[in-house]
Amino acid sequence: MHLLITGGCGFIGTNLVRFVLAHRPGWRVTNLDALTYSGNSENLEDLGSEPRYRFVHGNILDRALVEDLLCDCDAIAHLAAESHVDRSIADSRPFVESNVLGTQTLLDAARTAWGPASEKRLLHVSTDEVYGSLPLDRPDWKFTEQTPLHTNSPYSASKGGSDLLVQAYHQTYGTNAAITRCSNNFGPYQYPEKVIPLFVTNLLEGKKLPLYGDGKNVRDWLYVEDHCEALLSVLERGRAGEVYNIGGNNERSNLELTHTILRLMGKDESAIEYVPDRLGHDRRYAIDATKIESHLGWKPTRSHWPSALKHTITWYEDNACWWKRLKPKC
Ligand SMILES: NC(=O)c1ccc[n+]([C@@H]2O[C@H](COP(=O)([O-])OP(=O)(O)OC[C@H]3O[C@@H](n4cnc5c(N)ncnc54)[C@H](O)[C@@H]3O)[C@@H](O)[C@H]2O)c1
Repeated sequence: MHLLITGGCGFIGTNLVRFVLAHRPGWRVTNLDALTYSGNSENLEDLGSEPRYRFVHGNILDRALVEDLLCDCDAIAHLAAESHVDRSIADSRPFVESNVLGTQTLLDAARTAWGPASEKRLLHVSTDEVYGSLPLDRPDWKFTEQTPLHTNSPYSASKGGSDLLVQAYHQTYGTNAAITRCSNNFGPYQYPEKVIPLFVTNLLEGKKLPLYGDGKNVRDWLYVEDHCEALLSVLERGRAGEVYNIGGNNERSNLELTHTILRLMGKDESAIEYVPDRLGHDRRYAIDATKIESHLGWKPTRSHWPSALKHTITWYEDNACWWKRLKPKC
């Protein structure tokens, strides 16, 4: 198996490259990444002498390059995307370019390089944010794969658009594609603009924790390696044309998350600074992951709360050189 991973220098991509090399000994990985602000080639520098790994600096919008790479690849795990909601609110154009046009370019390149009836698989990595927002007063409600798309931010709209293109290519051209929709991830190598690394590194720098609105927004947190394992299970055994939700069954309000980080780092709540809410801030996300659990036998095994969070905090404490170079750009 020769796997093309797009966006392999980002947070989840870096973890996925490492996970594949560690858990699939016969596989080779090519990582195609444009090294945008959130892509960091240093993340995988230690793999320089690994014969099963190759890094290609390039953009998924470069059709000729993608087609050329695909001629020698058996599958794609497509993660490359603009991924930060706040940035999409400030300027949505890069989101439409990379997430929508980039995915369309990849789909066309796969069709040309692999031929129309190819069994080679494209795994499209999407997000629970495409389902919109759940109310706080209905804890029994969760997103299933049948929940209609209801995108509320330019980021989720661009991801929803890419999901629809993937489904259309499967229906129209028979592209062997599957889609995953995962909840919020945490773990090592996450760009320090996202809430967990931002709060942890702010505390390490003696700064305040900017908490949006009333802090009651709820997210379902999954440790990144559980996501990587789920992605491989869908890549290898998922059904073509299907969507698989991935979640940690681990709902926490932002306030609860903040208090847990404070407690684990021995700080008190005077560090919290309430700031005006994000525009269009989705209230609650919650994933029903029954399908991937019952069809593919996947379950989160590494997301134990709060020990997985503690492990993540320790990584940022031990890797200050990594985040100190990135923080000024946040
Ligand atoms: N982080 C989460 O909690 C989460 C949850 C569910 C789904 N996802 C999805 O997983 C994927 C990865 O997310 P992440 O958090 O690792 O994001 P990230 O921002 O950390 O990494 C994105 C990577 O994609 C690369 N990239 C962006 N545009 C590109 C382009 N046009 N061509 C080539 N490379 C490009 C960047 O350089 C970067 O390395 C995204 O598709 C995201 O929507 C993320």
